[in-house]
Amino acid sequence: MKKSKGIKYVTKKGGVFWPSDAMKEIANMSDPKIYDKAEKNPVKFWGELAKGGLTWEKEWDETYEEKLPYFKWFKGGELNFCVNCLDRYLDKPKAIAMIWVPEPTNEKPIKITYGELYDKVNKFANVLKQNGIKKGDVVSIYLPMIPQALTAMLACTRIGAIHSVVFSAFSADALKARIQDGKAKILITADGYYRQGKKEPLLKKAKVAARKTTIKKIIVVNRIGGKVRGGKFLDFDTEIEKANSYCKPEIMKSEDTMFLLYTSGTTGKPKGIVHDTGGYATQAYWTCKWNFDLHRGDVMWCTADIGWITGHTYAMYGPLLTGATTLIYEGGPVFPNPGRWWKIIQDNEVNVFYTAPTAIRMFMGGDKKWISKYDLSSLKILGTVGEPIDKESWMWYFNKIGGGRCPLIDTWWQTETGGTLINTLPGIGPFVPTVSGTSFPGTRHAIVNERGGAVPKGDSGFLVQQSPFAPGMLHGIFNNHKKYVDTYWKKFKTMYDTSDGAYLQNGLIRITGRTDDVMKVAGHRLSTAEVENAIHDNWHVKDCAVVPMPDKIKGQVPIAFVVLKWRKSSEKLEKKLKKHVDIKIGPTARPKRIFFVEDLPKTRSGKIMRRILKALLINEKPEGLMTLVNPNSVEKIKEVVSARS
Ligand code: PRX
Repeated sequence: MKKSKGIKYVTKKGGVFWPSDAMKEIANMSDPKIYDKAEKNPVKFWGELAKGGLTWEKEWDETYEEKLPYFKWFKGGELNFCVNCLDRYLDKPKAIAMIWVPEPTNEKPIKITYGELYDKVNKFANVLKQNGIKKGDVVSIYLPMIPQALTAMLACTRIGAIHSVVFSAFSADALKARIQDGKAKILITADGYYRQGKKEPLLKKAKVAARKTTIKKIIVVNRIGGKVRGGKFLDFDTEIEKANSYCKPEIMKSEDTMFLLYTSGTTGKPKGIVHDTGGYATQAYWTCKWNFDLHRGDVMWCTADIGWITGHTYAMYGPLLTGATTLIYEGGPVFPNPGRWWKIIQDNEVNVFYTAPTAIRMFMGGDKKWISKYDLSSLKILGTVGEPIDKESWMWYFNKIGGGRCPLIDTWWQTETGGTLINTLPGIGPFVPTVSGTSFPGTRHAIVNERGGAVPKGDSGFLVQQSPFAPGMLHGIFNNHKKYVDTYWKKFKTMYDTSDGAYLQNGLIRITGRTDDVMKVAGHRLSTAEVENAIHDNWHVKDCAVVPMPDKIKGQVPIAFVVLKWRKSSEKLEKKLKKHVDIKIGPTARPKRIFFVEDLPKTRSGKIMRRILKALLINEKPEGLMTLVNPNSVEKIKEVVSARS
């Protein structure tokens, strides 16, 4: 796209925002009739999109096959994902594929062209092959936000290996569990990375995690000057230098698994979400085209880490599938100063900016000068993801960052859905604070009651997805059919259970949040059970319940209620338990507070009533005390909570 300095892309009508003529003119999609067209025959519609957006080696025999709880898109079709990201854009090898902004200010941002990335990916794909990786093998990637992460991921897709990326802030234990579940053969990691001006070591954790697992080799990127030597260890760059420069892409079936990504559910064990190749690629491509209006040459900056699905689809793959430029950065948002993000937008003329409400809330409290200093007029579209956004934050983001000029889309989706599903399109609108909007063309969602019946318009209910299920949807939980069925299909049988609540507001979907025991901490998904398991590891702990508490910046934070066997509570023990959560999962999961209590509210069947604990934390009157075996516990917990608040 030609750089659009300061153009007004929205206009206000009837109290809400709509795309302006300038937006409609440039938008890849601005025809509201697209929804009806897609709804008439979603399968045909997606078939046309898949053909129009991707390069296939062989066309499919059947566009969609549904045998619930499984379904397949583009059955019999063949393609290679990496070819779709790189090879087909080699007509302009000098176009920029990725801009990387390192944290240390004495290091310059690096621009990597499609040609250069193609070269690196081919070579690294050969490195993987030389080390015994074949189609269908699992490769673990435990890397920070550095360009080698993209090289490694794409190299896997080139040879049909299944990548399993693990968030670099996760602990050695968390990595180990994911390596073991996937039986990964190779681990790709770095010696460390920079964060808040410090060197953050990574290899130490990786080594501990890989011990006594299926990992045969550890390939290490040298980022902070560490040296690796012999044995299992290989140096990323040295290996690339030695490798052949062409690797023939492995032709994959559309429904072949492309990657696993572990996410939290309601139990303590993370689930390996399985994503396929053709369906995922189709949804990633078209959501980038229509949501983020990407054109070749546009710069998109999605601030998510590759450890999360948002990082996969919108920081890595989506922009490349559309021939655009992706920007990634190392470090955090406010180091060396709170102007860092806005300087990055200015210096790199970012067109599309996609972040989480938690970041917006953090910046809202800061000094305005850090924003006004920078020219943000290159921006065209803003997006949010990960948790509900309140009106004040929405308006702040829209006005202060978007200059009141840019469509702001609130995209609802999940690790399981692979790509965005509910939001208004920038070329169509409307953009309404706190409201996500409509189902992406060709997808269907409904709001239902416990039994799956429609709720009266405007009432809250469970958000479900209806057949045909979106092409980017998960294709199961790795090696766990039962869990897949129980989690997503048990409740509503023929409809996918999102575990989110929602209601309709003027015909648009407004998300209210999770209906299960999953927390969103600074946009990161965590299960209360995972944190509880970690706390239970301590010998002194008799019983424990973790619940989310609302937090101004992070959205939610975990709070733990702990019953001890006989030892007295102490600050030292609280610290110890928190530290243990860091070690078991990672600092994101660390409880903000631990309340030591005598007893937890339980039903006759022994179920802990977390609902009551949640109410106590926000000073609400707890309901359902009648069902408890120990109603007296509630008053006592209340006293402990108010004493420390
Ligand atoms: O509760 C919803 C919330 O994030 C959950 C999915 O988390 P995760 O798998 O980590 O993926 C996050 C990024 C795609 C959902 O079940 N969520 C996501 N987007 C929104 C949201 N809640 C409200 N509004 C959103 N836009």
